[in-house]
Amino acid sequence: MTWEPGANLTTVESHILEMQRLHPSASGDFTSLLNDITFAAKIVAREVSRAGLVDILGDTGAQNVQGEAVKKLDEYANRTFMRCVGKRGQVCALASEENEDPVFIAPAEGSGRYLVLFDPLDGSSNIDANVSVGTIFSISRRLSPRDRVSSQDLLQPGRNLAAAGYVIYGSSTMFVYTTGYGVHGFTLDPGIGEFLLSHANIRIPFSATVYSTNEGNEPDWGPAVREIVRQLKHGRAGQAETRMAARYIGSLVADFHRNLLHGGVYLYPGSRRHPQGKLRLMYEANPLAFIVEQAGGYASDGRRAILDIPPRALHERTPLYIGCRDTVLWIEQCLERAAGEPAG
Ligand code: AHG
Ligand code: MN
Ligand code: MN
Repeated sequence: MTWEPGANLTTVESHILEMQRLHPSASGDFTSLLNDITFAAKIVAREVSRAGLVDILGDTGAQNVQGEAVKKLDEYANRTFMRCVGKRGQVCALASEENEDPVFIAPAEGSGRYLVLFDPLDGSSNIDANVSVGTIFSISRRLSPRDRVSSQDLLQPGRNLAAAGYVIYGSSTMFVYTTGYGVHGFTLDPGIGEFLLSHANIRIPFSATVYSTNEGNEPDWGPAVREIVRQLKHGRAGQAETRMAARYIGSLVADFHRNLLHGGVYLYPGSRRHPQGKLRLMYEANPLAFIVEQAGGYASDGRRAILDIPPRALHERTPLYIGCRDTVLWIEQCLERAAGEPAG
């Protein structure tokens, strides 16, 4: 791609610096931490784009803490983020889907004011089929004194997040983030190795036109969830103009990204077999909930805002309904009504 001479190009680094200017007292730690993340993302993007060429596909034979097979690129992405992020004293703890326990970083010269949680490679079962995958991350602030950081600092509700974002390794690689001042998207120009601002101030459309869920799980859903999906398909309260199309990739980041840009709702409900659903609160639901609220949408576990859930464990799961605000609120109402009805 060639850029017009003099075009007003904004790299992700300069955008993050501009955001820092909103906080005149900022030390620069937060800015350098975000830069670490974009750097790691570029390394993973390069590796994902070569996944079909090098002998990196396939399972490692190990299982992650969720008991799922670990694909080689999961491990690569995990190592890359672990190595690149927070090595300049900005971070006191790192937690990943792929590691049972968080890594606490001993007090060094730095202030260690931040904690980073991430899902290094989301949608990894799709890698072998060349389907989009992603990385999800969140950044929160340390609460305890520097020498007494513990899991409690990690287990803060999503409402406390300082920043969140994701990378989507798709037909192009994009980095999307928020620090609480809107949601901004950058596309990687592989020729120059820079993420360039392509989607400033993303707002989710008011109305959902697609719903995304794994309907193969329908036999395990309760009657309320079945009825909700039936109405999404046939139109809410029989109104044909509210009928939605189905789109499901099976990579949360990719499903979320499409719905954010085009208007949609993503559902991963609890089921009889898995009452808490599949997705993880701390490094999947919370970061995307922060992003969607910043873009004007909403995320719920069916009863309350995802961001208001008091976390109990690093790897806990939650049902997730996320996307256009109006539709997610309607789902909450349907579930509340069904919970009030006598079982029968
Ligand atoms: P991960 O690859 O990080 O384990 O996440 C997989 C998640 C998420 O990306 C996706 O939306 C969901 O699993 C798909 O689950 P189903 O295959 O059950 O639909
Ligand atoms: Mn995931
Ligand atoms: Mn993952």
